[in-house]
Amino acid sequence: MAEPTIEDYFVENRTFPPSAAFVEQAVVKDRSLYEEAAADLEAFWARQARELISWFDPFDTVLEWELPFAKWFLGGTLNVSYNCLDRHVEAGRGDKVAFHWEGEPGDTRTITYADLLREVAMFANALKGLGVERGDRVAIYMPMIPELPVAMLACTRIGAAHSVIFGGFSPDSIVDRVNDAECKVIITADGGWRRGTVAPLKPNVDAALPGTHSVQHVVVVRRGENEVEMVEGRDHWYHDLMASASADCPPEHMGSEDLLYLLYTSGTTAKPKGIMHTTGGYLTQVAFTHKVVFDIHPETDVYWCAADVGWVTGHSYIVYGPLTNGVTSVMYEGTPDTPGRDRLWAIAEKYGVTQLYTAPTAIRMFMKWGDEEPAKHDLSSLRVLGTVGEPINPEAWMWYHEHIGGSRCPIVDTWWQTETGGHMVTPLPGVIPTKPGSATIPVPGVFGEVVDDDGKPIEKGGGYWTLSRPWPSMLRGIWGDPERYRETYWSRFPGRYFAGDGAKIDDDGYIWFLGRVDDVMNVSGHRISTTEVESALVDHPAVAEAAVVGATDPLTGQAIVGYVILRQAYESSPELVEEIRQHVATKIGPTARPKAVIIVPDLPKTRSGKIMRRLLRDVLEHRDLGDTTTLADASVVAEIQTRATESPTED
Ligand code: PRX
Repeated sequence: MAEPTIEDYFVENRTFPPSAAFVEQAVVKDRSLYEEAAADLEAFWARQARELISWFDPFDTVLEWELPFAKWFLGGTLNVSYNCLDRHVEAGRGDKVAFHWEGEPGDTRTITYADLLREVAMFANALKGLGVERGDRVAIYMPMIPELPVAMLACTRIGAAHSVIFGGFSPDSIVDRVNDAECKVIITADGGWRRGTVAPLKPNVDAALPGTHSVQHVVVVRRGENEVEMVEGRDHWYHDLMASASADCPPEHMGSEDLLYLLYTSGTTAKPKGIMHTTGGYLTQVAFTHKVVFDIHPETDVYWCAADVGWVTGHSYIVYGPLTNGVTSVMYEGTPDTPGRDRLWAIAEKYGVTQLYTAPTAIRMFMKWGDEEPAKHDLSSLRVLGTVGEPINPEAWMWYHEHIGGSRCPIVDTWWQTETGGHMVTPLPGVIPTKPGSATIPVPGVFGEVVDDDGKPIEKGGGYWTLSRPWPSMLRGIWGDPERYRETYWSRFPGRYFAGDGAKIDDDGYIWFLGRVDDVMNVSGHRISTTEVESALVDHPAVAEAAVVGATDPLTGQAIVGYVILRQAYESSPELVEEIRQHVATKIGPTARPKAVIIVPDLPKTRSGKIMRRLLRDVLEHRDLGDTTTLADASVVAEIQTRATESPTED
């Protein structure tokens, strides 16, 4: 049998089966879906596609698989905006609320499915009026306001592909993405509210435009009321276009494999990759996973994904999954600490939120802010909690479970990627007992394995996480670069999709993600995952958040250095640092004891909240830090450099 290639230190034995009351009402109560999918993958997904999606023409071929290129539901035609809107209105549910939208300053909008359909159809006509045609690409650079999903859905209605560019990105990022996709139109806003002030957007588009060559029109939504320049003939106010737009816009009949959208993932070094998602397979998997993973009861639930639509999480689980399933959602514009650190809990209480989906980085921040913030609010409406984006440390999982979920809500730790389009590894909450820190097992219809350096499957222990069969919402390629697609995802292990994550399997067959394999440390020949050491650090009561890196060491090859953010009530001292190092040794073993622990006020993160470990390594090894523009807050680095030089390396 193949040998593990990443060592396995962290042992977590707590398990949390769903309560009998939860199982009783659950959308999925038993393992039959897993069995059905294992028996016949194609028949399983074909059934989901028929039951969850409305097709204009039925598909005749479920899957055409020419590794690494998959085509799902060939022959079928459909329209995504029809599935998200028209069919609910036609079924008499037009008055149902699609979004309870909450602006950061406290203004609100209630948007029904009928409202949304009308607005989407009108804006689709407005886009047509600007010359947008089926097959074109449209860039969207917007704050978290209802016009953002409207813009996306309007594109899908007329068969144009959207490319949403996260509103925190710089003009340079806009230039790269718009040029790569040759977008004809950019939809933006004057600005949006963030942390009590208006962050400008149109001015960034203006700064980007001279570097682009394909843009013919810019549409601007009024939101921030900040001063913007409008160029006659090129720039148009959204409200002006809408004033004369007809609400009659029949949806285009799109092929199942027509491009739905591009979403760029920023590699840390190389040019951003335009990840391609198509129509029928994407919508099927996103609708299926949204329903079964979050246990959606559309009649009664108020679902809230607190991510930004600019990330894939927002595409799949704020816009396409929830609307296809006809549920009521909450959408929030701003930051979680405005005006107070209890803003999310105030919103959850106000709307009676039943499912909350957020990221480990946010959960650790809430932990740092203290238990008293959620305690100010009645969170008893919550039924299911979700997490996504990074491995969640067991300690943060327990905090989420107790302080947000009232020890009553199953937590679905969802592993997936921009490239996978939808959830891949995560529990069905009424069926699979959870363990803090494990994403558990693949969803029905998804098949993956942990393999060793030679690509041989491992039955227990750590290695590389690979996907062994195609899935409906998989990326169809990298825009304009099929070779890079093959090379990036399919070359490391022949016949398998591999996108860089380490994972281990435990005795029960549960999967534990170990972070990016590029971050795995090699200490005296032991291959240690950053995630495991970080979880041991966060397990100490004083530690709110931790990032671990391997720094070059003459003796051991690499030495473990832990950067640590303390919880609000603790103060840094040499004794505490020593205690924290010792805690890691006790918890997972002396080999994993950090050589140094550096207390920092903050950690460098990407704008989607992922810790940039490369930068932390560069600081330790006194390297040029290179491009730091993808950082959420670049000033953090200077502070960390100071602390790193002040902290003695111990041992
Ligand atoms: O490393 C994994 C981590 O995030 C990566 C994908 O990032 P992105 O494409 O930005 O998509 C994030 C939202 C889906 C993965 O390769 N990741 C995501 N979710 C988890 C995770 N790592 C561990 N556990 C998760 N639940």
